Amino acid sequence: MNKKLLIFNWKSAPATVGAAIKLARTTENYSKSSRVDIVIAPPFLFTEEVGKFIKKAKLGSQDVFWSASGRTPADKISYTGEISLRQEKNLKVKHVIIGHSERRRLLKETDAMINKKVLATLKAGLKVILCVGEPARASAPLKNAEQTQNYADTKIRTTTNLKWAKNYMKKQLEKDLKNISLNSKSYILNSRLIIAYEPIWAIGTGNYCNSKDAVEIIKFIKKILDLRFKIQDLRILYGGSINGQNIKNFLQYDEINGFLIGGASLKPKELSTILRLTN
Ligand code: PGA
Repeated sequence: MNKKLLIFNWKSAPATVGAAIKLARTTENYSKSSRVDIVIAPPFLFTEEVGKFIKKAKLGSQDVFWSASGRTPADKISYTGEISLRQEKNLKVKHVIIGHSERRRLLKETDAMINKKVLATLKAGLKVILCVGEPARASAPLKNAEQTQNYADTKIRTTTNLKWAKNYMKKQLEKDLKNISLNSKSYILNSRLIIAYEPIWAIGTGNYCNSKDAVEIIKFIKKILDLRFKIQDLRILYGGSINGQNIKNFLQYDEINGFLIGGASLKPKELSTILRLTN
């Protein structure tokens, strides 16, 4: 449980399968150590090749369609361009990122769609990395103290902002995890559900969340999920502009069970530093 989990979200990069394998090689060199669990979520196009190459790291995907076959029996409709759970399973994908804020915000993915994906993925026996996070309103840092190396003197977020963010998180989790019942707890939740707390304003901006605030929100998420499902060993990750430098601020907290890393996982130097620091 204390073992950190690193998810590398390569988004739509790199441009070639050769470059993807090169990055995977860096990861493989480090993943021999047993101190960290590593998941690579390449662009779906490269899944098969990366999957053949990696031995220690696990394979993830950045999204999935909610029906096992890509065609819903109820409405008998096929969905052009979508990737089915069956296809992902056949490629040995083990973890599926669902509800990434870039998909929510830019591609208008709704909580209802995310909920369908979560339910279908858990049912199919794959692990879900459910991304949640509040927009800028509540938490735009007045000044990011950790970036200015001046933590003690700087007010990061007001209590009202933190309260607002927690409330936002509660509502989002209720909608995204709707219809997951307590009865199906062991079947569905037994270490198959992982939450990634990713404040939207921190993703891809270089403006990472203050680690103390992240811990406070992560503890809150743990508490509400424990109340609802009675599971204490849920893994909750932080994501949003993590790099080889700032990861040190977060590593000191046991409450943060790992990281969802985008941009830095595509830069070999950053990637190596992250892997060195977490191993
Ligand atoms: P970032 O992306 O590390 O580039 O901010 C995080 C993510 O994709 O979830």
